[in-house]
Amino acid sequence: MMMALRGAFAFLILFVTAFLPPPQCAQDPAMVHYIYQRFRVLEQGLEKCTQTTRAYIQEFQDFSKNISLMLGRCFTHTNEYKSAVDKLATRVERAQREIDYLEYLRASDVCVESEDETMADKLMQEAEEEKKIRALLNASCDNMLMGIKSLKIVKKTMDTDGSWIKDAASNSPKVYILIGSRNNTVWEFANTRAFVEDTTKPAPRKLSLTLSWQGTGQVIYKGFLFFHNQGTLNEIIKYNLQKRTVEDRMWLPGGAGRSLVYQHSPSTYIDLAVDEYGLWAIHSGPGIHGYLVLTKIEPSSLGVEHSWDTPCKSQNAEASFLLCGVLYVVYGSSGHGPHRITCVYDPLGTVSEEHLPNLFFPRRQRSHSMIHYNPRDKQLYAWNDGNQILYKLQTKRKLHVE
Ligand SMILES: *[C@@H]1O[C@H](CO)[C@@H](O)[C@H](O)[C@H]1NC(C)=O
Ligand SMILES: *[C@@H]1O[C@H](CO)[C@@H](O)[C@H](O)[C@H]1NC(C)=O
Ligand SMILES: *[C@@H]1O[C@H](CO)[C@@H](O)[C@H](O)[C@H]1NC(C)=O
Repeated sequence: MMMALRGAFAFLILFVTAFLPPPQCAQDPAMVHYIYQRFRVLEQGLEKCTQTTRAYIQEFQDFSKNISLMLGRCFTHTNEYKSAVDKLATRVERAQREIDYLEYLRASDVCVESEDETMADKLMQEAEEEKKIRALLNASCDNMLMGIKSLKIVKKTMDTDGSWIKDAASNSPKVYILIGSRNNTVWEFANTRAFVEDTTKPAPRKLSLTLSWQGTGQVIYKGFLFFHNQGTLNEIIKYNLQKRTVEDRMWLPGGAGRSLVYQHSPSTYIDLAVDEYGLWAIHSGPGIHGYLVLTKIEPSSLGVEHSWDTPCKSQNAEASFLLCGVLYVVYGSSGHGPHRITCVYDPLGTVSEEHLPNLFFPRRQRSHSMIHYNPRDKQLYAWNDGNQILYKLQTKRKLHVE
C-alpha cells in the first residue's frame, strides 16, 4: 500500500527533473500548479496517518512549504532556482527513505487507502479542470497572429491618452471615443465615417455616465460598456449604454488593480479585452514589475470562469490584446519604439513564442495608450500619441501539436 506513496515520490522526482532547465519552467505555470497539487495530496494523505508519523509530517510540511516558496520564486530567480531544485532532489530521496521506514512500521491500511482515494480524487479534479478549460476555449477559431500588415491613422486628437472602440460582439456600426484616462464622458458616433469626418451629420452624441472610468481598458460587448470604476481598486462596471444605467458590477479577484498593468501605460490598472471567445481581463500580479494575470469573465453573470498566471512581464510592456484565445503582449523599450510582441501566452499551449516571427509594429514615437482587438472586423484599434489607429493583421492557422 505504501508503494503508492513511493510511486508518487518517484513521479515527483521525474517531474522535478523534467523541470530543468528553468526556462521550461517559466513557460509552464501549469506544471508548477501540478506539483503544488501533488504535494497537497501527499500532505493530506500523510495527515491522516498514525501518531508514529507525526514528526515526519511536521518535517514534510516544512519541506513542502520550502518547495512551494522555491517554485514560486522560480519565475524571477532562475539561477537560485536551479540550485534549489538540486537540493530538492536530495530531499525527495530522503523523504523516500523515511517512507521506506514507515512501510516497515506497517501503517494501517485505512491510512494508506484514504491517501489513495485522495490522490484519485485530486487527479479526477485535475482532469475535470482540464476539460472545463478546453470547453471554455472551444470556439471555431483557429487563427494565430503572423504580423501587422498595415497601419491607418483614422483620426487625430490632441490627447495622449484615451481609447476608441466599437462593440466587439454586435453588428452596431457605432464608434465610441473615451478621451483621457479618467472621465465620465463618452462620445458616440453613428459610424466610422462620422467618426473620421467630424463635420458629417449627425453630430456625435454625448453620453454622461453616472460613474467615471479609470485608464484605457474599456470594451463594449453586446451593448454594454465594461470599464474599471475610477476610485476603486478592482471594480468592473457593466454599463447599459441604451438605458444609461449600471447593469451590474463585479470585483476582479487575484490582487487586481494594485499596480499598473503595463509599465508604459501610466493610468491603466485593469485592462479588458474581447476576442472570439468572449470577455477577458488582464492585470498585473504582485511585485514591482509583476507578471500579467489573465482572467476569463462570463459577461452575463460577471462570474470568473478561470484565471491564469502568465509568463509575460508588466515591465516594459505598453499594451496587450487577445486573438483567438491567445494573449499577445506589446513591449517598447523605455516607451519609445520599436514596439514589438515578445511575449505570447496561450492557455491551451498550442501557440508559443517559437512559432512566431518577429512581430513588430510600425515605428511610432510614443507608446500605445491602448490596443484592442475587435473579433468582428479582425483589426486592432489603437491609440498612439493622440492618433486613433487601425492595424490590419496577418494571421494563419494555428499549428496543432499532438
Ligand atoms: C526550510 O528552509 C529553511 C531556510 O531556508 C531551512 O532552515 C529549513 O531547514 C528548511 N526546512 C526543511 C524541512 O527543508
Ligand atoms: C468542442 O466543440 C465541438 C463542436 O462545437 C465538439 O464536438 C467538441 O466535443 C468540443 N470539445 C470539447 C473539449 O468540449
Ligand atoms: C471630461 O471630458 C470632457 C469632454 O470630453 C472635458 O470637457 C472635461 O474637461 C473632462 N474632464 C476631466 C476631469 O478631464
